[in-house]
Amino acid sequence: MSALPRILVIATGGTIAGLAPSPAEPGVYAAGVVDAPALLAAVPALGELAELRAEQLFALDSSDLGPAHWIALACRVRLALSDPELDAVVVTHGTDTLEESAYFLQLAVDTVKPVVMTAAMRPANALSADGPANLYDAVSLATAPGSASHGVLVTLGGTIFHAVGLRKLHTGRLDAFAGDRRGPAGSTNGPELFRPPPAQRALVDPAALTELPMVEILHVAAGSSPALLEAALQAGARGLVLALPGNGTVPQAWRGPIARATAAGIPVMRASRCGSGAVGRHPDDAALGTLAVGDLPASQARVALMLALARQQPALLRQLLAAP
Ligand code: SIN
Repeated sequence: MSALPRILVIATGGTIAGLAPSPAEPGVYAAGVVDAPALLAAVPALGELAELRAEQLFALDSSDLGPAHWIALACRVRLALSDPELDAVVVTHGTDTLEESAYFLQLAVDTVKPVVMTAAMRPANALSADGPANLYDAVSLATAPGSASHGVLVTLGGTIFHAVGLRKLHTGRLDAFAGDRRGPAGSTNGPELFRPPPAQRALVDPAALTELPMVEILHVAAGSSPALLEAALQAGARGLVLALPGNGTVPQAWRGPIARATAAGIPVMRASRCGSGAVGRHPDDAALGTLAVGDLPASQARVALMLALARQQPALLRQLLAAP
């Protein structure tokens, strides 16, 4: 009998499973084409790390994933981790909305077993494809004893991140991701985790959810009309995240519409349109009824707000924003 760790690899699509008509032009390709067994077969050295099982959950570009997919993924990961025959789970995913799925999983999966997500910036048949090395690093990380109790870890390009605060900052570079202002969680050399596990634990049971309330992110540019806000509310948004200039500055023209929305019970969060850095509390929050997102990127603040609305628990949001 094998003494290797037993790992389930759940594939969801993305560029890591993408194929380009021409390997020399990796910018034009179809995502989510290579199936889960083929992804594993492309990296024979994985067999020395773990006893692997492959499963195809979705075969999608991650820009086509949404709350129903996050819920299904979290339910599948929880079920796998409850199986005494499995020691860890690895999820392959697209990079474009990896930050949303990783954060949702972090809030919906409570386990000491390693959960590692990975992705790739180049399709599977590109010259110098990064997917095979990223998958190898993810499985290696999932077998490392130090990965236990870290919640959801994400690895790409030799760097390890915690799910909370993760953000994609570059459209094309292999090291496209960053963590919050405290930086990455570790390096795949080793692998080594040099930050402590995040304090935030699972807060929701995904099996109790079917969909999530509509929350929209509004990008506020110089001179943007607050009619955007009215339009989002008319379209049915139950909460808003504003990606504001700088460190979350509210333009004068937006103050009245924001105050009216919050007075009507619509939660409005102040985030930044800058790719990195935190948005701290400001006297405007008391004046306008807004909430600062702290270290979360707008994409993850939206997920937090969706969950708080779904659970009808404003306290849940404060708990998420307070987490270090
Ligand atoms: C996707 O997010 O599914 C496509 C882009 C990528 O994986 O890099």
